[in-house]
Amino acid sequence: MSTVRLTLNPLDKKSKINKEIYSNFSEHLGRCIYDGIYVGEDSDIPNIEGFRADVVEALRDIKLPVLRWPGGCFADEYHWKDGVGDKKDRVKVVNNWGHIVEDNSFGTHEFMRFCELVGCQPYISGNVGSGTVRELMDWIDYITFDDTSPMADLRRKNGREKAWKLKYLGIGNESWGCGGSMSPEYYCDQYRKYAAFCREFSGNKLYKIACGPNADDYNWTEVCMKKITPWNMDGLSMHYYTVPTGNWDHKGSSTEFDTAEYYSTLKCTLRMEELVSRHSAIMDRYDPQHKVGLIVDEWGCWYDVEPDTHPSFLYQLNTMRDAIVAAINLNIFNKHSDRVYMANIAQAVNVLQAVLLTEGEKTIKTPTYHTFDLFKEHMENTLIYSHIENEYAAEGVPALTQSASVNENGDIVITAANCSLEKDYDVEIVGAEASTACGRILTGEVHSLNTFDDPEAVVIKPLEVAQGSGKFSVRLPACSVAEIILKK
Ligand code: AHR
Repeated sequence: MSTVRLTLNPLDKKSKINKEIYSNFSEHLGRCIYDGIYVGEDSDIPNIEGFRADVVEALRDIKLPVLRWPGGCFADEYHWKDGVGDKKDRVKVVNNWGHIVEDNSFGTHEFMRFCELVGCQPYISGNVGSGTVRELMDWIDYITFDDTSPMADLRRKNGREKAWKLKYLGIGNESWGCGGSMSPEYYCDQYRKYAAFCREFSGNKLYKIACGPNADDYNWTEVCMKKITPWNMDGLSMHYYTVPTGNWDHKGSSTEFDTAEYYSTLKCTLRMEELVSRHSAIMDRYDPQHKVGLIVDEWGCWYDVEPDTHPSFLYQLNTMRDAIVAAINLNIFNKHSDRVYMANIAQAVNVLQAVLLTEGEKTIKTPTYHTFDLFKEHMENTLIYSHIENEYAAEGVPALTQSASVNENGDIVITAANCSLEKDYDVEIVGAEASTACGRILTGEVHSLNTFDDPEAVVIKPLEVAQGSGKFSVRLPACSVAEIILKK
């Protein structure tokens, strides 16, 4: 046990923490959409218009701000007209994730309705790789035009009178890879052409997101900032996955890992700090006003698929290790909220580091879900100065991670994680005044997880916050994530 000091300065206000940092991603991949989100109105699974009622409620509870769809790699092979109109007439196509049949029963209307039910904003990823400018232009017209046009009339014929609002629009996904294997120069020309035809109809304002780099491809960022220019885009995406072994052929198991592999997972995830800093530094040179947001629209742990599941479905389990990984990344995004505008964990349900897992009519909230729950009070707050006296839990892995923000009432929100597997910490919080304090904590042995038979093995519990003269204290046990609120 050690005692460490966490110093706050609520007067040192930094950037706004956009709620969008707490967003999710959903793709037509494995059991994310079908089973995970959409089961159809005739299903025995309790549903609202075909959407799983438990999933809607769980995502509402963490105040999900934005959901990205339909991919991922799937987006660059998706033709939106396949997914509108009478379901019995929708074309069946092959989905490259596992070469299974995609019946298109979940399309634009279903996605927009799901977002309405959850209370989140839609983020649509447009097809640049195998689509056309006309196709994307028509999709925006179909969704957002409130007057008469062939596309708006088609929308009405398909049952939706009023246009929707659509803010977030991605122009291509991983165009350097599955989205078309393009060079950055070629992509930038494509982007400019597509973006020129993404019209803003009926008062709808688009936030256009260019496909950004894969992890540390700094040249991609440089070329995009130079050739697209900040005046032609609102956001630039970046994808980075945490692979515990660093070897894509043998990534490691989601549940069976030793202490060395736990720390190598954290070391790998901590690289997010360097990636965000270095991409931001390049963006700063072209965009000192910070007009363009860095959009980390795919992040999270990517393990070997769960044994006996479809190898292309990317289904994996989720332990306390994932809760710690999520806390590390969310604290990094908060601290870089002057540039990181949005982040979307991959993915919402049943794929990669999912916040929810489903099996038949059962749904479990993963430890990652609970980390999102613990962090949700940061949304729309202002980041403030915080510094923690730290030790190393392992080589290159600091024991503690934290961020702090203040809301408009002056309440302070702190999120902290103890990444050590060996050591508990008493944290003394100084520099802030408050009338009352409260906290919540998620902790457990690092392999602990929620299962369909024991869905509440890992849950959030109250955390005692002791109040002394001019300071507050909490105990963070090894392997824990906490939220502390100091009320004005
Ligand atoms: O999230 C799974 C896949 O990872 C996405 O489809 C793709 O964009 C990325 O490579």
